[in-house]
Formats: sequence, structure tokens, C-alpha cells
Amino acid sequence: METIDYSERIPNNVDLGSDARLERALEYWQPKFVDWWHDLGPAAFQSNDVYLRTAVDIGQEGWAHFDYVKMPEYRWGIFLSPALPDRRVGFGEHQGDPVWQEVPGQYRTDLRRLVVVQGDTEPASVEQQRHLGKTAPSLYDLRNLFQVNVEEGRHLWAMVYLLQKYFGRDGREEADELLRRRSGDADSPRMLGAFNEATPDWLSFFMFTYFTDRDGKMQLHSLAQSGFDPLSRTCRFMLTEEAHHMFVGETGISRVVQRTCEAMKAAGISDPTDIAKVRALGVIDLPTIQKKLHLHYSLSLDLFGSEVSTNAANAFNAGIKGRYKETQIDDDHQLKNATYPVLKLVNGEVKRVDEPALTALNMRLRDDYTQDCAKGMLRWNKIIQLAGYHFKLTLPNVAFHRQIGEFRDINATPEGVLIDDATWNKRKGEWLPSSADGDFIASLMTPVTETGAYASWISPPKVGIDNKPGDFEYVKIET
Ligand SMILES: [Fe+2]
Ligand SMILES: [Fe+2]
Repeated sequence: METIDYSERIPNNVDLGSDARLERALEYWQPKFVDWWHDLGPAAFQSNDVYLRTAVDIGQEGWAHFDYVKMPEYRWGIFLSPALPDRRVGFGEHQGDPVWQEVPGQYRTDLRRLVVVQGDTEPASVEQQRHLGKTAPSLYDLRNLFQVNVEEGRHLWAMVYLLQKYFGRDGREEADELLRRRSGDADSPRMLGAFNEATPDWLSFFMFTYFTDRDGKMQLHSLAQSGFDPLSRTCRFMLTEEAHHMFVGETGISRVVQRTCEAMKAAGISDPTDIAKVRALGVIDLPTIQKKLHLHYSLSLDLFGSEVSTNAANAFNAGIKGRYKETQIDDDHQLKNATYPVLKLVNGEVKRVDEPALTALNMRLRDDYTQDCAKGMLRWNKIIQLAGYHFKLTLPNVAFHRQIGEFRDINATPEGVLIDDATWNKRKGEWLPSSADGDFIASLMTPVTETGAYASWISPPKVGIDNKPGDFEYVKIET
């Protein structure tokens, strides 16, 4: 058998070559990853040249290299952001102690769990998106999809590196399990709900990268605060890549909204809720975009877990998972006596109730997330407003369509009005995509593979990737 020099094969800044045990573990895992990529990665275009960025360094200038690469030959690397000199645990019981370079024994199980849950989301999204390449609205979008996919693959590598380097035998077993679970599988699903949902069309893809990748951003920020330094450094580097995923979502939705508004204007349509007229133009009507937004936002809220959680409190006390931008928060970073307002169901109404801040950390992170979500929405609404339409995309109330936490057992409208089961069943099609909506969107999903051309339902981007011109061949179709 040919021997592969993994320290060469896998771009890294963790001195892979010096750790024989780790190298053996990777030799064992890497072929399984390749098999997984072939079986559950993108269902088409595996042998095409795609213009992708690859992480090659961690330097401030130029951490990435752009070039044509066939996806199975992508060099999934392992990178940690630079160690911060004299970094200290920033919160909890160990605040002020030097950060840990090895896993503290008493937190081993909890830390492993955090790494596994994060790791499980990475391949899951690749599985969810694997058929989208066949209906891409342009080569530009096709390339962006694959960029997101290979980087989620790299994020899996990042978590598997931590498991194999720091968690011994059970880490290796968990690394195998990450390749065994399957998004949406009845017997062996992915760990979190939103990662078992279908991503049936490109509007879903953009919503997913906007809303669900943004949950990833919040989780990575919290883990980047960890007192376990290798986890912190890993997550900090992942965040640089994650920014592009959310860019794909934000600009994707902007371009859909833009195209819809332009088409409505050109056709002289004054009522954006006249769905049949708008759809006849071959664009996605704003009310349907709103429904998709309702769906993906509510699924993503569930990822934050229960509003009140002792697990979250324990992870904070232990110093293994902090708050969003912990080091910039002006308080004691202990939260022993602090309170935090939590949205709860009180006598059939959604009300704010003060809870101990320590157990309310999931709620706090979710609030930070909601604020972050609202920013991009301002841009979408600006496009609609500039086009002269009175229509506003809005985030639904937190009580709407929830499976986890305080509101899981009730039904509510997007405005947060509680309703009974019968009303929910009768009206949910007004708020969430119906199968007819899905069929309409699916009818628009025909692939466009000429350079510089775009599907009828989406505007071209304002600028190209890596400053490339509009007619750049992001994916080489002739192989
Ligand atoms: Fe990721
Ligand atoms: Fe991502």
C-alpha cells in the first residue's frame, strides 16, 4: 500500500508529523471521510474543476488560496488560530487561571459532548445540501454551494482533530460516529433537529446559510471563549470561514428579493401579495419568502436548547463555554447573583420573567442571535422599500413553531398570539411553506450552467468571488 505523508497531505499548523499516535488515528479515519464524501457529499460535479478557496495558513494577510480543484481532491486542513500570549480563563470558577492545553479530567465528558455536537452539524449540512448542485441558478452560486460544503467538511476535520488528539479512544469512536449518523435518517439521525430537515431548494439553502449557519457562528463564538485553549483556537479559525457562509445566505436572499421586486415593477404589479400574478413572472413572491423565513428562523431557534438550562450553567461555571463576546462584556464574568429576563409562558401569555443569569445562558445567546439576524433583514427590507413596495419581512415571535424549550407544547401565530390545535392546523399553511409553495419553488429550480447567466428568479451578484468578472467560469462544466 502506498504510504501517504499525512503531515504533507493535510495542510496544518499543528505539527501533525510530530505525533505518531495522532497520525495513525488520522490514517484510519481519513479514508472513511473520503468514502463519506463520495457517498453523501455533493451528488454531482465531483469530477469538475471548481474555483475554490482552501485554507493554507493562519496569517492575517492571505489565509486562503483560490484555485480550480476537483472536490474530492480538496485539501481539508487542520488550522488553529494563533495562541494568545498568557491567555487566561475568562469566566466561571477558574477565571484568571492559565488556559488549559490538555482536557481537565473533571470536564472531559462535557467537553467531548460539546465537540461532538458541534462536529455533528458539519457533515449534516453537507448531506442536507447534496442534491442542490443539480439545480444551481448559476455557476457563481454552484461554486458558493461547493465552497460551503468543502468548508463544512473541513470543520468536521477540525472537530475530529480535537477528538483524536485529546480524547483518546472514546474520541476516536466519536469520530467514527460522526461519519455514521445521517441527516434525516430514521434509525441514525443527526443530533439536532434542524440538521435533519430537508434543504429542498435554493431558497432553503440561502435561508439555511443565513439562519442556521448563524446559529453555528454563535456557538463557535461561545466555544472560542473556552478555557480549553485548543478548542478556542480551533473555533476562532472556523469563524473566519463561517463568515462567507452567512454572506452567501444574506446576499442570496437579497438577490432573490431584488429580482422579485424588479420583475413586479416591470410588470406594473402594485400589490406584492397578489401571489398568482407575481408567480406568473417566474419569480418567488415575497409572502412565500416570508414563509420560508418563518420556517428556518424557528428551526434555528430550537438549536439554542431550553431557555433555562443547568447544563449551560455548568459549562459556564466550568469555564468550557462562555457567552457571545464574553471578554467584551462588562460584568464580573461569574453571574452568581445576576438575573436575566427570559421569555416564558405565563397564564397563557408570552412574558419576560427574571431568571438567574447562569441558567439563562441559552436564552441570552439566543437573544444575541436574534439581534444578529435582524441586521441582514434591514438590507432585504431596504431593497423592497426602495422598489416602492409596502411589504416588510419580519422575524416571527419566539413562540411560533417551536419544538424545544418553553413554547414546545403550544401553538402561536407569528405575532405570538396563542392559538389552539384546530386553528393551528387550519392556518399553518398561511405561515409555513405548504407543499404547493414547495412545488412552485421546485418548478423554478432549473439549472443554469452558462457562464455569466442567472436563473429568472435571482439577480446577479454585485461582485464576483475573488474579484472575478461577471462571466467567470466558476465551475468548469466540460470535464
Ligand atoms: Fe461549519
Ligand atoms: Fe457554515
